[in-house]
Amino acid sequence: GGFQMFTDPNMYGNEARLFRGKGYWLPEYLFTSGNVTKLEQFVCTEDDVLVASFPKSGSTWVQEVVYLLKNNLDEKKARKQNMEDRFPQLEYTIPGLAALEAEKGPRLLKTHLPYEMLPQNVQTEGKTKVIYIMRNPKDVCVSSYFYSRMHLFLNYQSDLAHYCSSFLSGRVNFGPWWDHMKSYWEHRYDPNILVITYEDMLQDPSKTIQSIASFLGKDLSTKQVARIAKYCSFDEMKKNPASNYSWWDKLGIRLPEEAEFLRSGKVGEWIEHLSNEQSAYIDKLCQMYLTPAGIEPQFEM
Ligand code: A3P
Repeated sequence: GGFQMFTDPNMYGNEARLFRGKGYWLPEYLFTSGNVTKLEQFVCTEDDVLVASFPKSGSTWVQEVVYLLKNNLDEKKARKQNMEDRFPQLEYTIPGLAALEAEKGPRLLKTHLPYEMLPQNVQTEGKTKVIYIMRNPKDVCVSSYFYSRMHLFLNYQSDLAHYCSSFLSGRVNFGPWWDHMKSYWEHRYDPNILVITYEDMLQDPSKTIQSIASFLGKDLSTKQVARIAKYCSFDEMKKNPASNYSWWDKLGIRLPEEAEFLRSGKVGEWIEHLSNEQSAYIDKLCQMYLTPAGIEPQFEM
């Protein structure tokens, strides 16, 4: 016992239950196999790459870029397996830690864990490369609302106003958002950490691809950068069955009448969904929590 638990009455799916751990609200699936400690003890190597983010910050795009960089830009290979198989989520029960442990490196892993919950050796040795993606919280909030409605495991039944108040209270998967941000921001100068933003990546994909490539020690020609940018563009990824999560439809995980995984792919789309009050409230929370922590958000608000 000892866990503080919360069930969002508007979430009907089996991943809706949240537990409190290290100051965060964590989805129950992290705990059902007792793997919080196992997560901390998981050993990453120098060759592993972690793509870390708060959910709905643009992880899939970065994963595709990293996958190509680590696989000699082999697009044919990239199309053979879906993203979840090519780039599994560290804390998720599928394939699970034991399977990941058995995998020969270099492993490409996605994670939504805050920095302080990353495997201990990543934190203490600082050799495993971690790419953290930040995104404007207003767009994150809107994107996760549509995602929570679409995903049958979450099966969110209420409206955006309700979702937004949960987001603001921090009681959403891996929330509070600002603590997540702070946890990585404090490590932005660590040599094994690269912090990028969704906004930069959309405004100048080539530049972000270049910085990811040099972080991973890869030299790219202008032509290669352009090829990656094209392959990973929203339109290309949306129609690519190895990237667009259409495999969820076959697994019956997605509610077909709701938004697709690659939904809108824009910066500042929140303006079409959030009220002035909601927007002002997020601004206020950022001032309260981020400014004192020295975080100068690099994204446009
Ligand atoms: P929207 O819901 O605003 O469209 P994650 O990959 O971390 O789950 O984040 C998902 C968000 O990133 C979604 O935002 C999705 O559309 C967007 N996204 C995914 N692939 C993208 C790409 N190649 N280019 C731009 N946005 C992308």
